[in-house]
Amino acid sequence: MSADDFIVTPWHVEGDIDYDKLIKRFGTEKISSELQERIKKVTGEDHFMLRRGIFFSHREMNRILDDYEKGNKFFLYTGRGPSGHTHIGHLVPWVFAKWLQEKFDVNMYFQLTDDEKFYSKPDLTLEETRKFAYENALDFIALGFKPEKTKIIINTRNIKTLYPIAAQVAKKINFSNTKATFGFTNETNIGMIFYTSLQSAPCFIEDKPVLIPLGVDQDPHFRLTRDIASKIGKPKPALIHNIMIPSLEGPGGKMSASDENRTIYTTDAPNVVKKKINKYAFSGGQPDIAQHRKLGGNPDIDVSYQYLRIFFEPDDIKLKSIYEDYKSGKLLTGELKVILIEKINDFLVVHQEKREKAKDQIEQFLFDDK
Ligand code: TRP
Repeated sequence: MSADDFIVTPWHVEGDIDYDKLIKRFGTEKISSELQERIKKVTGEDHFMLRRGIFFSHREMNRILDDYEKGNKFFLYTGRGPSGHTHIGHLVPWVFAKWLQEKFDVNMYFQLTDDEKFYSKPDLTLEETRKFAYENALDFIALGFKPEKTKIIINTRNIKTLYPIAAQVAKKINFSNTKATFGFTNETNIGMIFYTSLQSAPCFIEDKPVLIPLGVDQDPHFRLTRDIASKIGKPKPALIHNIMIPSLEGPGGKMSASDENRTIYTTDAPNVVKKKINKYAFSGGQPDIAQHRKLGGNPDIDVSYQYLRIFFEPDDIKLKSIYEDYKSGKLLTGELKVILIEKINDFLVVHQEKREKAKDQIEQFLFDDK
C-alpha cells in the first residue's frame, strides 16, 4: 500500500480514504446537489447526514424515487455483523434507515450475520456471534423502528427462509467473480466464499425493489448481487452509502468493534465514555495551550469534532461555531472533548433505557420462517 493509498473491503479498511477516488474505484455515483434537493423535496426534510455528506454516494437512488413518485413502494434492508457489542459508529446507517422508514412508510429488514462473523473471525465461536446478534438487535430496536413494519433476520435462525433465495444467487456467482471482488485465496474458508449469497438473500425477500442504506465497505457484496439480479428475474438492489466512521484514535480506519479502548459502545457508562474520549480521542489541537491559542486547532482531523459532525450535533449553527472557535484557538481540545462527552452521555442515557425496554419487544421483531 503506497502512502496516499487506502483499502476498503467488507473485512478490511485501512489508510486515509479519499471518497472521490473510492467512488471511481467502486463505480458508484456521488450524491449530487440535485439528488439531495430531490430527497429533501420528497421527504419534506433536510437530513443533516445528507447535507454534510455523511451519506455521500449511491447506486440508483433516483430509480427508487421515480418509482415511489409513481406510487410504487420499495422496502429497506440493512444489517450488522455481530462480532461484538454495538458501537456508536454502527448507529449512523441505522438512524438514517429509521428516518427513511418514517418518511417513506416502508418495511424494513435488518440482517444479523452471525455465520459471517464466525467465518471471518478466527477467535469467535458461533455461540458468541449468536449472542452478540441478540445484543445488537436490542440497539437496533432501541432506535424506534416500527414493530409492525420491521423484521430482524438472524442468519442461523432464519436459514429456512434465506437458503432457497441464497441458492438462486449462489448459482449465478462464480468463484472468479468473488475472488476478484474480495481477494480470496486458496486458504479462504468456503463459508466466506458462499457468504455473499446470504447477504444478498434479503434483497429479494419481498417482491419489490429494495433500498439499502449501508457503510460503503459493504458495497462489493451488492455489486455482485446487482450483477446477477436480472439473471434470477429480480430488480437490482439500490444503495445509499455512508462514509466510514473513524476510530477514536483517528482517521485511517473504521471504528473496530474488537478494540475496546478505541471504541465507544452503546453500553458504556458515562465515566467510561469520559475516560475513553479524554484518553484516546485523536486531537487536531496543538501540543500546548500557548501554541493552540496562537495557531488554532484542525477540526478536520480532530475525532471529537468529527463525531459531532457525523452524529452528535445536528444543529449547523452550533457546529459551525465549534468549528470556528477550535480553528481560531479560542476553544481548547479539552473543552471540545467536554462538549462531545456531554452529547454522547446525554444520548446514551436515553438509548440505554430504550435498549432495556427492547428486551420485552424483541420477540415481536424477530422474523419468523414460514
Ligand atoms: N456484512 C455486514 C457487516 O459485517 C452485515 C450486513 C449484512 C449488512 N447485511 C447487510 C450491512 C446489508 C449492510 C447492509 O457489518
